[in-house]
Amino acid sequence: LNNHYNYSRNIIHFNLREMAGEEQRRRWSLQGKTALVTGGTKGIGHAIVEELAGFGVRVHTCARDESQLNECLTEWKKKGFQLTGSVCDASSWTEREKLMQTVSSLFDAKLSILINNVGAIRSKPTIEHTAEDFSFHISTNLESAYHFSQLAHPMLKATGCGNIVFISSVAGVLSFSVSSIYCATKGAMNQLARNLACEWAIDNIRANAVAPGLIATLAEAALDDGFKNGMISRKPLGRSGKPEEVASLV
Ligand SMILES: NC(=O)c1ccc[n+]([C@@H]2O[C@H](COP(=O)([O-])OP(=O)(O)OC[C@H]3O[C@@H](n4cnc5c(N)ncnc54)[C@H](OP(=O)(O)O)[C@@H]3O)[C@@H](O)[C@H]2O)c1
Repeated sequence: LNNHYNYSRNIIHFNLREMAGEEQRRRWSLQGKTALVTGGTKGIGHAIVEELAGFGVRVHTCARDESQLNECLTEWKKKGFQLTGSVCDASSWTEREKLMQTVSSLFDAKLSILINNVGAIRSKPTIEHTAEDFSFHISTNLESAYHFSQLAHPMLKATGCGNIVFISSVAGVLSFSVSSIYCATKGAMNQLARNLACEWAIDNIRANAVAPGLIATLAEAALDDGFKNGMISRKPLGRSGKPEEVASLV
């Protein structure tokens, strides 16, 4: 009788473990999800595209450089990823609208994940920033993320569990002695993430911001050495982060 009891108990434990494992797999699975990652041909965006595609997400991305986009799409196809892409300048209102129409028709008007990654920096002291520098940073970094989120809202809502991730920066949290416009756009982006998280919670849409420090990308390579070394000296690891390290967090 004891043996029979132990045997049944083991089966019950085994089944409970299996059920917990299944629940965990379901909770962490991205299979069948859809995503738009803006600026996915280089740097952090590229790593996020590969991370999501590796988890079975159908990803659409965009960039301005058509030949680089096509090279990436060919590489991704070889790797067996489900990926598509469009040429789009994210700083343009009409191009953003066109991109979202494409995304809507590709994914049957259902978007699980929006990654607002496009961003750029012209590192200068404040008094050297021109009016064009100002509108460049605002339209590329902030207006694009704001407008893409607005356009994506009905598609995110339609999934019943939408997600927006803003690729912000430590520059939106800490203080620096250069690039005030860039830093202001990133600070605004952090606040936008907080507001949308409150406003769209009712639609089951989550909004979060990831704020990387210095990450080894082409954009980082273009930064002033003094600024870069100053940033690295504040890092406990003593090195720039890798795009993959940001992607795994996203
Ligand atoms: N690297 C860092 O140290 C660092 C640190 C903190 C935060 N971040 C943030 O992380 C994000 C990505 O930075 P990154 O360093 O990976 O940049 P990156 O290496 O320069 O790559 C930027 C990507 O976005 C695309 N892109 C740029 N402007 C675009 C536009 N107007 N329209 C459409 N696509 C555009 C680029 O392709 P095309 O050039 O072909 O358009 C490329 O695919 C940015 O928001 C940046 O502010 C970076």
